[in-house]
Formats: sequence, structure tokens, C-alpha cells
Amino acid sequence: MTVTLTWHGHSAFALEADGKQILIDPWFSGNPACQASADDQNPIAILLTHAHNDHVGDTVSIAKRTGAKVIATAELAGLIGKLGVENAHGGNHGGTVAFDGGTSKFVPAWHTSSYTMPDGSVVAPGVPAGLVVRFGGKTIYFAGDTCLFGDMALIGEEGLDLAVLPIGDNYTMGPADAIKAAKLLKAKAVVPCHYNTFPLLKQDGAQFARDIEAQTSCKAFVPQPGESIEVQ
Ligand code: NI
Ligand code: MN
Repeated sequence: MTVTLTWHGHSAFALEADGKQILIDPWFSGNPACQASADDQNPIAILLTHAHNDHVGDTVSIAKRTGAKVIATAELAGLIGKLGVENAHGGNHGGTVAFDGGTSKFVPAWHTSSYTMPDGSVVAPGVPAGLVVRFGGKTIYFAGDTCLFGDMALIGEEGLDLAVLPIGDNYTMGPADAIKAAKLLKAKAVVPCHYNTFPLLKQDGAQFARDIEAQTSCKAFVPQPGESIEVQ
């Protein structure tokens, strides 16, 4: 089965297999790197790593329109439910949640998690997570926003076809630590994200790809926003 990963800039991804789409951290509206429209997405599930607005993005409007199941850590799922989404499902670290066609397992991430409400007030729903997604016969790790941590070696024991890693630095690990992460994760391939969204996150994706292929046995894919790759 063909599994296609599309990068919409920052940490927003679509996965497609067997005619089904899922979205991860779907920040379309206001994402300076994104060329796609939230209105064109038709996911069966939306997976969230944490509550920051650059990750929750258009979740509420897409889920209301499509009925997509929203999977997030418990407190964030509760908030999404309060914002009017009927099919929000909470889990927590170590837990695996099923959706139509696949599963998503919450694994640790070192970061923070807050959400700025439409009225400007800030709430702090839950903790950040990484996600190990099994879909279309592939196993894909979305690290979310995180630093490097040693237990990535345990996440690697999941048998990863692809690891999606932030490299933007400042709020997450930068390229050097992402290469160390790739060594721990032992994924077959790596895709960088959470970079070049705005000047603070400027990184050289092509250089990252050269470095990771020189220093590890991982293949690197560096899509441009809007581009897709086939997960192999
Ligand atoms: Ni964040
Ligand atoms: Mn972020």
C-alpha cells in the first residue's frame, strides 16, 4: 500500500493511504509557510502533539466540518470538545488510540503545552507528546516539539519507517541534536519540520539532509511546503 506524507509547512502534515487522509498538527490559517487551505482537507482523524496554537491550528473548524476524530492528550481533547468538537478522544503517554485505518500511540516529548483562546486568555491543557502512528502498513514517529532525550532509543524499538523531527532550534531541538535523535531512533528515513516558518526558525534543510546521510544510515527527505513524499 502506498503511504503519502505531505508537508504543509511548520509541523502540519497530511498522511494518505487507501483513500483515507489523516492530519497531524493542522496549522493552515495564519501559517506563513502553508500554501494549502484548511477547507480542502477531508481527514478521518486529526492527531495533535500538544496545545500550542501553531499545532492545534485549524483543528476545531476542520473537525466540525468533517466529523474527523480528534486524538490528543486528555486535557487538550477535553478543551477541543468544549470548543464544539463532538468526536474528541483523549489519551496519555503510553496509550494507543485507534482511528479508522490505523492507530496512534502517545510517547513522551519535552516541551510545554498552552493554548491561547479566541478571547486572548491562555489556558494550559495537558502535556506535550510525540506520536507513533501506524497507518497503511507503515510506522511513522512524529516527535512534535521536543528536545533530544535518551528514551528516543525506546521509541526506536517501535520499528520506525520514518521519523519526523523538528530542526528549527529555539523552541525545539536544532539540526545537530536532531541528528543525535536519528541515531537513537534508528528510523529508516527522516523528514525535518518546524523550521523556516519564520526568520527565527531559519535552517538549511538540504545541509541537514547531507549531514544526516553522512553521519547515520537514515535516508533524508526534505520536502518543500506543499510537497509530498512516499513513505517507504
Ligand atoms: Ni510548541
Ligand atoms: Mn511549535
